[in-house]
Amino acid sequence: MKLPQRVRIVEVGPRDGLQNEKGEVPTRIKLELIERLADAGLPAVEATAFVSPKWIPQMADHTEVLERIRRKPGVSYPVLTPNLKGFEAARAAGAAEVAIFGAASEAFSHKNINCSIAESLERFRPVAEAARAANIRLRGYISCVLGCPYEGEVAPAKVAEVAVALSDMGCYEVSLGDTIGVGTPEQTKAMIEAVAKRVPIERLAGHYHDTYGQALANIYASLEAGVATFDASVAGLGGCPYAAGASGNVATEDVVYMLQGLGIETGVDLERLVEVGRWISGVLGREPGSKAGKALSAKKAATARAA
Ligand code: HMG
Ligand code: MG
Repeated sequence: MKLPQRVRIVEVGPRDGLQNEKGEVPTRIKLELIERLADAGLPAVEATAFVSPKWIPQMADHTEVLERIRRKPGVSYPVLTPNLKGFEAARAAGAAEVAIFGAASEAFSHKNINCSIAESLERFRPVAEAARAANIRLRGYISCVLGCPYEGEVAPAKVAEVAVALSDMGCYEVSLGDTIGVGTPEQTKAMIEAVAKRVPIERLAGHYHDTYGQALANIYASLEAGVATFDASVAGLGGCPYAAGASGNVATEDVVYMLQGLGIETGVDLERLVEVGRWISGVLGREPGSKAGKALSAKKAATARAA
């Protein structure tokens, strides 16, 4: 199949990335991160999560973050809202897009949001209705689409079933998450094909974690299947608090580098993005988790030394 000419990248570093940090990240750093990512050309920067601070203390400053972002025209700043309480708080803080997040595995659903898949869908329904009434865009996530840390294999038919439910509720897009990064390309393709039989491929996004180093290969397999939206995290920040050993999402720098090589437009300025990745990794006291980011930074430094 012909690859898409343009891909939309949803940057999830400030949420998926930072939700798992051990130390507290100051609100002003989060704001700077979000603003710099938007300035680097990312069309969507997931800003925070209106979840319980007892469950995810790292997102406790959600209201302040969302209220204080210097919003760039044309950029969306989605936030996670697991229930009506989260939705109402997000709306009050000025959310224009929210995301509900379910799972394709019962055990993960219980660990992550403390209810079964069926109960989660019942909790999401009023959120979807309220979002529609308030003209707020609604995105959906499904975790564990290629494997679960508690249950092991996950059937593509189960992913498709949850995707249909989220789509029927009004999600303009359903993001398919390999939460623990175990999937391989053929498996990814089979899962996408099963879901795309029931939800149009234009409304699917890939959300791949890189735990086993398979994320770029899975993105390529998804591109071949017709997916044109991918979630990624600057510097590969992150992990999942309810999936031990899960590493961050695929690094945004690596995705942009690969897509550029394929002649696919993203609108992202890779040099600026690499600079953001280097900066936030420095703030967090670690090496950037992006291979392309590290290589491009080293090349730039060598060029500067030679000049
Ligand atoms: P619960 O304990 O079952 O909720 O949590 P509850 O309704 O029984 O309420 C218990 C307490 O939480 C009450 O407070 C509520 O007010 C409060 P108390 O009376 O004890 O003081 N509460 C809230 N507080 C703030 N915001 C809210 C909220 N709702 C209730 N929205 C709940 C259920 C869903 C809230 C909880 O399980 C939770 O917050 N989970 C967070 C899970 C999470 O954020 N996980 C990480 C994101 S998902 C992810 O990373 C995967 C993804 O990236 C895709 C992929 O990688 O595959 C999306
Ligand atoms: Mg994730």
